[in-house]
Amino acid sequence: MILFLGLSGCSNRIVDGQQVNKEEKIVIKFSHVVEENTPKGLAAIRFAQLIKERSGCSIEVQVFPNSQLFKDGEEFEALSRGDVQMIAPATSKMSQLFPQWQIWDLPYLFSDLESVHQIMDGPLGKTLLEQLEEKNMRGLAMWDNGFKHLTNNIHPIIKLSDFKGLRFRVMSPGILQEQFFNFGASAIILPFNDVYEALREGSVEGQENTISNIYTKKFSEVQKYLTLSQHGFMGYAVIVNADFWDQLPTQAREVIEKTMSEVTLWERETAKELDEEQLEEIKKMKGLNIYSLTPREKMIWRKDFSSVYTKFEKENGSEFLTEVKKLSK
Ligand code: LMR
Repeated sequence: MILFLGLSGCSNRIVDGQQVNKEEKIVIKFSHVVEENTPKGLAAIRFAQLIKERSGCSIEVQVFPNSQLFKDGEEFEALSRGDVQMIAPATSKMSQLFPQWQIWDLPYLFSDLESVHQIMDGPLGKTLLEQLEEKNMRGLAMWDNGFKHLTNNIHPIIKLSDFKGLRFRVMSPGILQEQFFNFGASAIILPFNDVYEALREGSVEGQENTISNIYTKKFSEVQKYLTLSQHGFMGYAVIVNADFWDQLPTQAREVIEKTMSEVTLWERETAKELDEEQLEEIKKMKGLNIYSLTPREKMIWRKDFSSVYTKFEKENGSEFLTEVKKLSK
C-alpha cells in the first residue's frame, strides 16, 4: 500500500513500511498550448505544486506550456499514445470528437460566468465529461478562460455585417466557422501557436479570443481593432488518458481528484481576475482601437446569430439546448 504522508518535503513516501525508490514515482506530463500567465497556465503550475507537496513528491506533474510538446490538433493523439498523460484543450476543440461540446460555442447563450458554472457543475456538465470515456479519456474538471472578443486589422467591427469579406482564424470547424460564414467572412482553422504569425503576415485578418490569450500572445502588435463583444464562452476540459488513470493506485487518484477540485475553484477565480487586469493592460496599449458593444448591440448580434443555433439544433437535436437554456437561467 502507498501512503501519502507529507504536506511538504520529498522524503516521506512510504510503501508497506519501506521508503519508495525514485523510479517508482508517478510522472504526469501535462501539455498545453497557452502562455504561463493565463488562467490555464497558472492553474497547471499550481496543480503541479500542490500535487508534489501532497504526495510527498511521489507524484510529479511536469507542465509543458506554450505548445512546447504538442500543438493543439496533436494533443489528443499524444494523450492516446501515452506521450503525455494530461491535457486541457479548449471546449471548442473538444467538439471535434464530441459535437455536443459545441454548446459552449453558441454565441450569447450564457449571459455570465454563473450560468456557465451552473451547467459545468450540474448534470449536463457531467454528461459532457462522461462522453470522453468513448475515446478512452477521463475528464477530471472543466476550467474557465472567459468570454471571447474579436480582433482584426481592417476596420472596426460594430455590426455583424462588418465581418463581410474578412478572413478570421477559428479554433475548430462547425459552429465557430458558421458564425463567420453566415455574414460573408471566411473562417480558417489554425493551431493557436500559429495565430500571431498568420495575423502578422496577413493570411488571416482577424480572430476571436479571450482577453488573456489576446494579451499574453501580444495579438495587439499585429491587430488594429478590438471589439469587446463577449460573444462566446471559452473554457477547458482537463483530461487524462483512461488507461493511465485506471492503473494508478487508489490513493494517487484520490489526491489528484481532491486537488483538481480545489484548483478548479482557484482557476475560475483567477480567470475572472486576469480577465479584468489584462483588459486594463490592453487598454493602455497604443495602436489598438477598442470598441465595446452596448447591451443593445449585443442583443441584436444575438438575434442575428440565430442561424448558428439552427445549425446546432439540426446536428445535435433541440433537447440538449433546451435543457441548457432552462438550467443556465
Ligand atoms: C485558442 O486556440 O485560441 C485557444 O484554444 C487557446 C487556449 O487553449 O486557450
